[in-house]
Amino acid sequence: MSTPEPADRYAELPPPLPTVPLAPLRLRPELEPEGAARAFYEVMDRRRTVRQFSDRPVSRETIEWCVRAAGTAPSGAHKQPWRFVCVSDPALKSRIRAAAEEEEREFYSRRASRQWLEDLAPLGTDADKPFLETAPWLIVVFQLIKTDPPESGLVYYREESVGIAVGILLAAIHHAGLVSLTHTPSPMGFLREVLSRPEHERAFVVIPVGYPAEDCRVPDLRRKPLDQIAVFREAGPGAVRKPGPGSGPA
Ligand SMILES: Cc1cc2nc3c(=O)[nH]c(=O)nc-3n(C[C@H](O)[C@H](O)[C@H](O)COP(=O)(O)O)c2cc1C
Repeated sequence: MSTPEPADRYAELPPPLPTVPLAPLRLRPELEPEGAARAFYEVMDRRRTVRQFSDRPVSRETIEWCVRAAGTAPSGAHKQPWRFVCVSDPALKSRIRAAAEEEEREFYSRRASRQWLEDLAPLGTDADKPFLETAPWLIVVFQLIKTDPPESGLVYYREESVGIAVGILLAAIHHAGLVSLTHTPSPMGFLREVLSRPEHERAFVVIPVGYPAEDCRVPDLRRKPLDQIAVFREAGPGAVRKPGPGSGPA
């Protein structure tokens, strides 16, 4: 069978969506983009991964707003290939903890390479995961490997899309004054079964959310400065940037 002519293929495609005007957004009208970008950086720079949680409750509404924010993420062909399973049921949390700790014991004692253990050692993590019960909420993020039935269509750039959504979720949690942990029990296939999720969902990450424990401490780590994470390729004399009031820390 010969490949159809491009003209025929395009003729069968659905029409583009109607369009709406883009509503421009200036969150901080008193700040120029440089100042606003710097202010956002300063907020985000205070985000830390927390492993000691308080059991202080967090409302379901708070979690709903954070998940709505995550759901604003861009996604390949707008397939939105994510599901956020929000768990506060103590019985379910203890099942997740028991199953995760079983996998993690195996990971730390056998599966992890020597190099991986060396890289994890400075963070002081081990197979004990009390936060899976202490944190008031666990947001278990699944990626959809197909769209939901009954369509069950393809999804594109699934990992990239869900990764971006998780980034926005972490920012939303931080912005709400709460803390989170990006937890990846290895492997995490058990989550689909414990949470009775369908075949087309695959666990991506577990995010305990809540308030930090009163005596919470975090590793004193350093983030790479700008010159180690960014490369600028600019043309002409305008490329030389003079340090100004908007220039932040390297
Ligand atoms: C994809 C991913 C997986 C992670 N998995 C775990 C994990 O299973 N357990 C854990 O304690 N921390 C985990 N972390 C947290 C990292 O250790 C943490 O982000 C890193 O040490 C930097 O600390 P910060 O988030 O406070 O900047 C993970 C982070 C990411 C992005």
